[in-house]
Amino acid sequence: MKRQIFCIVALSGVAAAAVSGPVEEQIRIRQSAYAFIGWNTGRIKSQLDHPESYNQQQIVAAANAIAAVANSGLGSLFGPGSDKGTGWRPTKVRPEFFQKPDEAKAAALAFNKEANELARIAATGTPAEIKTQFSTLSETCKSCHSKFRERD
Ligand code: HEC
Repeated sequence: MKRQIFCIVALSGVAAAAVSGPVEEQIRIRQSAYAFIGWNTGRIKSQLDHPESYNQQQIVAAANAIAAVANSGLGSLFGPGSDKGTGWRPTKVRPEFFQKPDEAKAAALAFNKEANELARIAATGTPAEIKTQFSTLSETCKSCHSKFRERD
């Protein structure tokens, strides 16, 4: 009997893993995805702050990279059981992310929308227009982090 229960639990674990990968891997990939997003927002910010280094091609490349990651379906990296655990480091996601899925989804959708908008504006916009949209995007990062990510 015990053995049978173990088998059922083990099998449902396998089914979940087939959808989104083992929990540690989900955490590792989402931490990598956000770190990559952070690298790209960092290089946009440094160019907006230092006009002498401004290079629109690089801004376009960074904005497209952020939009691509935003559109890649990051939500599937927050599977069951990934509220706790260690990827590259212990996860910083807060329990509220899983307890209030509608709010978490709304935060993710706001980020997607503004990331796509930044990619659109970066292609043809002036530095001032890019700066305005970059602040709008940054607000969506801060808003999700303040609700759903542990503070450092
Ligand atoms: C929908 C919510 C959400 C949005 C939007 C969001 N983040 Fe995050 N971010 C998180 C969560 C949750 C973590 C913690 C992930 C973990 O440790 O499992 C995180 C982690 C990070 C990290 C640390 C990654 C690491 O090395 O572990 C960086 C950097 C980061 N986010 C930057 C950003 C930037 C920049 C934006 C906006 C352009 C952004 N995030 C938008 C939820 C979000």
